[in-house]
Amino acid sequence: MAFLSDTLARVKPSPTIAVTSKAAALKAEGRDVIGLGAGEPDFDTPEHIREAAKRAIDAGKTRYTAVDGIPELKAAICSKFLSENGLTYTPAQVSVGTGGKQILYNALMATCNPGDEVIIPAPYWVSYPDMVLLAGGTPVPVVATLETAFKITPDQLEAAITPRTKWFIFNSPSNPTGAGYSRSELKALTEVLMRHPQVWVMSDDMYEHLVFDDFTFCTPAEVEPGLYDRTLTCNGVSKAFAMTGWRIGYAAGPVSLIKAMGTIQSQSTSNPCSISQWAALEALSGPQDFLPGWRAAFQARRDLVVSMLNQAAGVTCPKPEGAFYVYPDISGVIGKATPGGTVLTNDEVFATALLEETGVAVVFGAAFGLSPNFRVSYATGDEVLREACARIQRFCASLV
Ligand SMILES: Cc1ncc(COP(=O)(O)O)c(C=O)c1O
Repeated sequence: MAFLSDTLARVKPSPTIAVTSKAAALKAEGRDVIGLGAGEPDFDTPEHIREAAKRAIDAGKTRYTAVDGIPELKAAICSKFLSENGLTYTPAQVSVGTGGKQILYNALMATCNPGDEVIIPAPYWVSYPDMVLLAGGTPVPVVATLETAFKITPDQLEAAITPRTKWFIFNSPSNPTGAGYSRSELKALTEVLMRHPQVWVMSDDMYEHLVFDDFTFCTPAEVEPGLYDRTLTCNGVSKAFAMTGWRIGYAAGPVSLIKAMGTIQSQSTSNPCSISQWAALEALSGPQDFLPGWRAAFQARRDLVVSMLNQAAGVTCPKPEGAFYVYPDISGVIGKATPGGTVLTNDEVFATALLEETGVAVVFGAAFGLSPNFRVSYATGDEVLREACARIQRFCASLV
């Protein structure tokens, strides 16, 4: 339609949101649906954070704030980076936006020109390539497979870099695979980046606090201080503090980039919600004693889901280091037919048939850049997960 922009023609709606909506619509029709599509914790925002928001409302903190964040929150973000990541930033190096999503979007909008390439390890979070396209850049996926536990190698990174490479987007632990890079694995990637000074690093540390067993989180600017001047370290309160609806994300990096991101934000959304900023301040500076319990709950769910999915015929499910996703390979079911007569030609057909024939909603792998796979978000109760995995097992066993 001529009315719509050329920019819109370059992108598609988020497939994860589409799956969640389809599952909700089937549920509304009375179908017995289990949604494993949504990327959000099922826990409530902790009480002390909710109380901080109520206090902010009653204290009249309900007006416009500084475009990219109140000073109190910026100071807390600087303290967080120093104490948790060993990174020194000043408040002028910090930007606060409406969710991690807006932070990443602002950074790409502020920097990408036509022809600029952005390296994105696949499987990737669905929004990275489309955000790069919206910003006028060119996404360059680098595919990591099951054989390397969904992590790219230094040789792959080296081969993908060109004189036009502007950014390398790094996300560990990853959405959708849960894969986390160890310090030595990340160090090997940063050694490649040190040889290419034109490449900036966008590190999306959204799942920093959701790591399991003895895995230790690390981030590029800390692992290789030589990258500090060209790294944007991004994070947010959505996942670690069960605050997806509050919409607060933040990043720290060089002042010139932070200022440019502020310009984009000042002409689009202005400040993130004032009340949410005060709640995020409490999240970052208040007690975090609930986190070990959440981690333990997620780890137990990961173990349950990995074990049950590996017992499904034709499914191979590696055990990830973090986040709340698994990304099983389904090569063993492609080409088979369902009892309803559908031939599973690819993972999108698999996910649609699984939803229609068993009521389990998952997101197909093609949306994340590696097939044939699907993503399970296990941020839901144990009984629900057990039932969903049992249905997947029965579905796979019924294929001919
Ligand atoms: C890897 C990753 N980055 C960023 C985001 C965006 O988070 P927010 O809800 O704070 O915008 C998500 C949310 O799904 C994510 O998985």
